[in-house]
Order: sequence, then structure tokens, then C-alpha cells
Amino acid sequence: MNSKIGTSLCTTSGKGGVGKTFLSLNLAASLAMLDIKTIVVDANLDCPDVGICLGNGPYYSSIHNVLAGRDELSNAVFDSGYDFDIIPGDISFSAMKDIDLENLKDILTKLTQEYNVVLVDTPPGISDVVTLSLDACESMLVVTSPVISSIIGGLKIRSIGKRLNTKCIGVVLNMAGDGGIISRENIEKTFELPVIGEVEYNMEVNSYLTEGDLFVVSNPSSSTSISMKKIAADLIGYKPEETEEVESKDNTQIKKIIKALRNL
Ligand SMILES: Nc1ncnc2c1ncn2[C@@H]1O[C@H](COP(=O)(O)OP(=O)(O)OP(=O)(O)O)[C@@H](O)[C@H]1O
Ligand SMILES: [Mg+2]
Repeated sequence: MNSKIGTSLCTTSGKGGVGKTFLSLNLAASLAMLDIKTIVVDANLDCPDVGICLGNGPYYSSIHNVLAGRDELSNAVFDSGYDFDIIPGDISFSAMKDIDLENLKDILTKLTQEYNVVLVDTPPGISDVVTLSLDACESMLVVTSPVISSIIGGLKIRSIGKRLNTKCIGVVLNMAGDGGIISRENIEKTFELPVIGEVEYNMEVNSYLTEGDLFVVSNPSSSTSISMKKIAADLIGYKPEETEEVESKDNTQIKKIIKALRNL
């Protein structure tokens, strides 16, 4: 039997459009820059867009095929082009046929035997695929923008995670500065959780998306990218000042990271 080398983590929100997919992909690219073997699974089965955000393939299989038993897991894994892998969704209506959501847990278990971080990009709200993703993942991140409707949605998803005993690592405050007036401190008080990162609203984000480019790679020095890279580093307990010294000593750093992942 293969043993686990990684952890599964889902990005969630009650309200749609708060940046879960944007963050999942850019965090994956940031983790890959730290040599963390990462995969993003598109669990947004109704409107999958992980593949679309990366330029749309070609992808010859999908999470839908694996969930429906139409294909092997290994056939649905694709290179993102940014040193991490993805399992894209299939946008066609017919892709939903014969899907068995109960297979999700088994898929994620298998992936944690091959990847250090398995990031599950969920749809908004509290559909079955969201609750099953929360149940199947070891931990969750709540993504919110600084507006009340998004925060209320986040609280709802957080309470479902609690009921399912999914560890909540914290809240990511995305689109900060885009007119939203709710402060980081208030968000922390409301969720009783740390805001593990604040990602600025950046008008240029969508122009990179149109090209299928990942913002953190194409625009590495913008404050939006820097905060996402910091979230990724914090997630795995990476401390830049330790690197130079440790890298020369076999793989002590990678062992530390794996230990941190297990403690997530
Ligand atoms: N920090 C940001 N600055 C500017 N635009 C952003 C930022 N984060 C995300 N966006 C843009 O906001 C839109 C919604 O983002 P995204 O699709 O990632 O949200 P989502 O939560 O995954 O949506 P859904 O709930 O529909 O799955 C996208 O066009 C994305 O490029
Ligand atoms: Mg999305």
C-alpha cells in the first residue's frame, strides 16, 4: 500500500467570484516555486474553469471522467505549464452523466500519495460537491472579499467545515482595497480565525487571465503576487532565511516542509 506524502486543502467560499480559482492556481504556482509537488483539482463540476484559466488545454480527460468511472485517474492529470499538475473539469453538459461524488475521497487519497499539496478548487455555496470536498480534505481555506455578503457566505461555509471536522487554516482576504470597507481585524473577530493573507485587488489580473498566464509568474513583483507567494510559503512553514544553509545539507529542508504539511 502506498503511503501518504502530502495533504489535501480546499479553497472555499459561500459567495461566488471571490477569487478561489485565481488563488488556487497562483498558490499552486507559488508552491511549485518552492519545489512543493502540487496538483490543483477542479471540483467546480458545473462550471469548471481551472483549465480555461490556463489557456484551455488541450485536455483529453477530466475529473468528470474519473468521478464517473469513465477513465483512470492518471489519464486526467495534466501539466499546467507552471511546474504543477492539474485535473481539469469538462465544461460539457454531458460530462455530468454517471458522476459518483462518493469517488472524490478516494481520488484525493490517491493524490496525497503522490503530491505534497493537493489543492481542491470548490464551487461557491454549499452543494453536495462542496460538502464532500470539505469532508474529503484535511483542511480548508475560506476566501472572502471585504464585503458583507462575501463574509456572511464565508461564515456559512466555515460552519459546515466545523461540523465535518475539517481544519480551517484561516481566511484569505482577496480583492482588498476594491472599495470593500470591512477591515482585516473585523474579519478576524467575526470568523474567530486568522486572516492568513491579504491579496490586493489588481486591475491587471484579468488581462493576464485572458492570455492563460498566471499572474504570480508573469507579474512576480507586484504586491498582489508577493502576498500570494507569502501565503504559499506560510502554508508550508517555509522560512527564506533558513534556505541557503539547509539546501546544502541533503534534503533537510524538504523533510521540514513535509513535517509542516502533516501538521496542517
Ligand atoms: N486580487 C484580485 N484582483 C483583481 N481581480 C481578481 C482578483 N482575484 C480574482 N480576480 C478576478 O475576479 C474574478 C473571479 O475570480 P475567480 O474566478 O477566481 O473567483 P471564484 O471564487 O473562483 O469564482 P466561482 O465562485 O465562480 O468559482 C476573475 O475574473 C478573477 O480574475
Ligand atoms: Mg472558481
